[in-house]
Amino acid sequence: MDKFEIEGGYPLRGTVNISGAKNAVLPLMAASILFEKPFTLLNVPDVQDVYTLAELLDVLGVKAERLEKGKWRIDPSRITSTRAPYEIVKKMRASIYVLGPLLVREGKAEVSLPGGCAFGPRPVDLHIKGLKALGAELNICHGYICGELKAPHGAEIIFDKKSVGATAHIMMAASLIPEKTRLINVAQEPEVVQLGEFLKASGAEISGLGTDVIEIVGKEHLSPPDGYSVIPDRIEAGTYAVAAYLTGGDVKIDNCIPEHFRNVIDKLKLAGAKVEEGETFIRVTPESDFIKPVNIITAPFPGFPTDMQAQFMSLMTVAKGTSVIKEGIYPDRFKHAFELNRLGADIIVEDGTAVVNGVEKLYGAPVMATDLRASAALVLGGLIAEGKTIVDRIYHLDRGYDSFEIKLQALGAHIKRVKS
Ligand code: UD1
Repeated sequence: MDKFEIEGGYPLRGTVNISGAKNAVLPLMAASILFEKPFTLLNVPDVQDVYTLAELLDVLGVKAERLEKGKWRIDPSRITSTRAPYEIVKKMRASIYVLGPLLVREGKAEVSLPGGCAFGPRPVDLHIKGLKALGAELNICHGYICGELKAPHGAEIIFDKKSVGATAHIMMAASLIPEKTRLINVAQEPEVVQLGEFLKASGAEISGLGTDVIEIVGKEHLSPPDGYSVIPDRIEAGTYAVAAYLTGGDVKIDNCIPEHFRNVIDKLKLAGAKVEEGETFIRVTPESDFIKPVNIITAPFPGFPTDMQAQFMSLMTVAKGTSVIKEGIYPDRFKHAFELNRLGADIIVEDGTAVVNGVEKLYGAPVMATDLRASAALVLGGLIAEGKTIVDRIYHLDRGYDSFEIKLQALGAHIKRVKS
């Protein structure tokens, strides 16, 4: 298992280019099952999750091939299987996205249940409820969600919770049903909006994107746009923004959309960072002489993203004072807190809330990554810790950050990958 070795104490300086968004490209790739023509996607990040989904699509008969950096060709002309096996699905929850498209195209599907994950139970009941409303008959058999969709029809579906996954999933399925579907209380994340735009460009009629009610009039056939470009990764951008301020550096974060992570920018400013911005970049430098404590609560977009909670916690470990971080999406998503404490942080976790008492300094130590964003938080801790930090199990990080250590090295960080 690869590890990162980090020598802390070097401020980040320079420009970093943000890659395409992992959480945007995965639904676009899964949506390929809805089409019968090959197409290309651009600005695809080189992250493990993309390769895992390509592997799953391959099992189903859809050929997904990387032509060059950022450019992938997907050929969904022939579906040869409707079974998504446990061995691949267990690696990545986004695999569930193939269920709906398989049901509407092939009339049947078997997809392994994705199960829980490192930060608590992550049910798929809203996905199932939505597909049933569109006419699917689904059962759980031997750990698989299996069933048929013989008579698909439009529906009005009210989601109990704003779910990125369920919204994207049902939007895909409804796009290939030539009737009207109305989705109420949907997620408003930029990645959901991009999927909707992509499906519109493929021929579906969709309105209300970015609001909490989406209407879809599907089509019998959809035709994918060619050369569609994935939006920049707002979580990657936010991670570098936090790293820049935490290390007291000066970093231009290029090829990002500040509007997509406004809440993170605002919190950074409250913490004492200076953030200049243009349409497609931000530049982060320190304004205050010290990092100020800031409270956050994670919430669906446009609230503070749960995917930035861990990185922000690293920043707060060395703030002058106490910050309270409340997890509004996944109450158990705090394993990184205990690892940050190994670096000398003072964090107490109780009932979905972390109380972070700022300390003078962090000290290098071996730590273990527990999930994707937690890994990034530990790397950030290592960047300011005195001495050497070793972050183990970085396969979590490789799932979602394109060339993380290479981009950090270019900014002056002393970080290297140790193969084992
Ligand atoms: C969540 C985040 C997403 C992030 C991802 C990985 C939100 C709204 N979503 O997405 O931005 O990239 O974690 O860190 O911040 N739920 C159900 N039943 C379902 C589906 C979801 O109860 O069928 C619940 C989830 O457990 C969660 C909430 O609804 O509490 C939001 O769900 P969803 O956005 O789909 O979760 P993820 O896709 O995991």
